[in-house]
Amino acid sequence: MSRVAYVNGRFVRHAEAAVHIEDRGYQFADGVYEVWAIAGGVLTDAEGHFARLTRSLGELKIPTPMSREALIVVLRETLRRNRIKDGLLYLQVTRGVAPRDHAFPLPAPTPALVVTAKRVDSAAAEARAAKGVAVITTPENRWGRCDIKTVGLLPNVLAKQSAREAGAAEAWFVDDLGLITEGASSNAWIIDAQGVLRTRDIQANILRGVTRNTLLRVAREAGVSVEERPFTVEEAKLAKEAFTTGAGAQVLPVVRIDGAAVGAGEPGPVARRLRRLYMEESRRTGL
Ligand SMILES: Cc1ncc(COP(=O)(O)O)c(C=O)c1O
Repeated sequence: MSRVAYVNGRFVRHAEAAVHIEDRGYQFADGVYEVWAIAGGVLTDAEGHFARLTRSLGELKIPTPMSREALIVVLRETLRRNRIKDGLLYLQVTRGVAPRDHAFPLPAPTPALVVTAKRVDSAAAEARAAKGVAVITTPENRWGRCDIKTVGLLPNVLAKQSAREAGAAEAWFVDDLGLITEGASSNAWIIDAQGVLRTRDIQANILRGVTRNTLLRVAREAGVSVEERPFTVEEAKLAKEAFTTGAGAQVLPVVRIDGAAVGAGEPGPVARRLRRLYMEESRRTGL
């Protein structure tokens, strides 16, 4: 069965889906995106992703392409046409098509909306989480508004490529103070030497991960001691456990940082428990 994409009001064969060469997403990365994990047909953590999409669009002054209700119909239909039960749903909104000029075009073009979906092998994802992954660290070199989920991801692309070349799954950015900000496509967490679950506080220098947000609540409700406080690379290497969060891999244990084993060098009990609790909660609150 061939894949289908939603492009500006139409469902088209994925292989033939295209946007105009003067789409501002293509020209200037003038657009935003969202990703939902689909589990058993449920759009997990649905509300958090919709809320962040609204915020990202607002920060860039891009009009909302359609109502939430209409968008849900499009998302569901994309899943149905691609027969996805477990997978990832990708949505992108750009400012639209206009003659190339840096400032916002006048009159404002219609925002361009693209939705795609792909299947994920959940057994393979579980096996990966059960084994844990390696991360590398790399100097932070992104702009000052990482809180907006824009399609301008070149530093993230380069960092992820460095990770891949080093045999790692993710790259953690490290700021000028030696503190980890986040991963190229995930938030970063440790259980520190004192047993405190830590992740960086929310400022403009990290994405407000929807998974992060839900997991903070889930962890607190489970009685885990949690602090939103940055940590150094050294603290991460001396941590009892480490993991990443994101819609792509949910809660993913990290077992090596820059080649050094974290804790016992295998996924720790807290990360494994939080992964399970997160999975349950994100489905429960999904759509
Ligand atoms: C840079 C970055 N940080 C964090 C995340 C995790 O965000 P979420 O949990 O909302 O998927 C992502 C996800 O794509 C990301 O790209």
